[in-house]
Order: sequence, then structure tokens, then C-alpha cells
Amino acid sequence: MSTDQTPRPPRYVVAITGASGALYAVRTVAALLERGCALDLVVSDYGRRLLRDELGESAAVDNLLPYLVGKYGDGVRRGAFDLHSNRDLGATIASGSQPARGMVIVPCSMKSLAGVANGLSRNLVERAADVMLKERKPLVIVPRETPMSLPQLRNMVACAEAGAIVLPAMPAFYQMPKSLDDLSDFLAGKILSVLGLDHGLYPAWTGQVER
Ligand SMILES: Cc1cc2nc3c(=O)[nH]c(=O)nc-3n(C[C@H](O)[C@H](O)[C@H](O)COP(=O)(O)O)c2cc1C
Repeated sequence: MSTDQTPRPPRYVVAITGASGALYAVRTVAALLERGCALDLVVSDYGRRLLRDELGESAAVDNLLPYLVGKYGDGVRRGAFDLHSNRDLGATIASGSQPARGMVIVPCSMKSLAGVANGLSRNLVERAADVMLKERKPLVIVPRETPMSLPQLRNMVACAEAGAIVLPAMPAFYQMPKSLDDLSDFLAGKILSVLGLDHGLYPAWTGQVER
């Protein structure tokens, strides 16, 4: 039995699925890395496509670290990530014994939402989310679709009832965003906040709009 007491960086699972909003995904990954987190990253097939479609070939999964360094700076090197195949249901994060403190699915497609809501565990994204729910660890789901069907709405309720935090990809405008990056900073900041992590990704509300 190991008695290694070496402090380890906080570990989180990040899943990227095929819903619009790749910028939210890379900002969230970068923000967690900037805080020195260790990440288990899993990207669905359509998540991979979304990264390339919405951010360009340079953001392809296999080039993600250089992309993040180029866009957000060397601070992302404070953390590290392990990339898992979505087909590998034998990965560490498929087990309740893994050490991650929580998980975020950003963005979360309606298909993956349905899989999590119904405990299907058809792939690693769904299984890792199921593990978070059964272990009573934070699971943040960032759905993106509009308008929404009744089954989609019901799936969000089912996830919330099971203990997940449903954090829709709904940026606010009271912080007077000037760019898409400002909007993605806001959403990534919301995700870090519900995970209990400090950040300076958007200014705190002061009681009035700051111009
Ligand atoms: C360019 C593009 C944008 C898409 N945007 C969304 C979206 O915003 N929300 C959604 O639920 N599905 C969206 N889809 C469809 C999903 O990618 C599709 O249902 C896929 O099977 C989801 O699988 P995954 O959850 O394993 O990634 C989009 C697909 C493409 C190609």
C-alpha cells in the first residue's frame, strides 16, 4: 500500500462534445491549466470536428497545447493534460477510483446530454460523467442548443436531479463584452466558479454597469 504524501495538483476531467461553442471549450481548458490543474481530456468525434470547424485546423486536438500557448500564453504550461480516446472505456476516468475532483462537459451536445441523463455510458464522456454522479462529485454540464425540445429540457432536469450543475452556454452582456474572447472568458469563469476555483476571468458585478 502506497503512503506517498506528495501534494498533487488538482485534477479535473474536461470533455468536449459536438455542440457549437469550441471557444468556450478551449478557454475553459486554458483557464484550468493556467491555475496549474492536471486535466483528463476526452473529446468526442464531433467535438474534434467542432474544434477544427469553429477555430481552424491549428486548434485540432493533436495540436491543442501549441494552440493554447499561442492564444493564451505560456501560463497554460503551469498545468498539463492527458488526452483519452472517447472509445477507451478502460481509461482511468471510467473508474470511481480515479482522483479527479470534478468534471465539465463543455460544450455538451444534446446527444451527450441525453446519454448522461439516462446513465447510458456508451463512451468515455458518458461513463466519466456517470462516475461523477455516482461518486457525488461535481459534474458541470454546459448544454448548447436553441430552441430546445421537451426531451432536451427533460434531460437537463434529469441531470440536475441526479446532482449535476447545468450551466447553459448563455454569456451575459452586463460586463460590456468587446470581443468573442470576452464572452468565452465569462463562460469559463462561471465554470471555474461553480467548481470552487478563484479566477479573474470577468469583473465581479459592482451594482452597476461599468462602461
Ligand atoms: C457544425 C456542427 C454544429 C453542431 N452544433 C450542435 C449544437 O449546438 N448542439 C447540439 O446538440 N448538437 C450540435 N451538433 C450535432 C452534434 O454534433 C451531433 O448530434 C453529434 O452526434 C453529437 O455527438 P457527441 O455528443 O458524441 O459529440 C452540431 C454538429 C455540427 C457538425
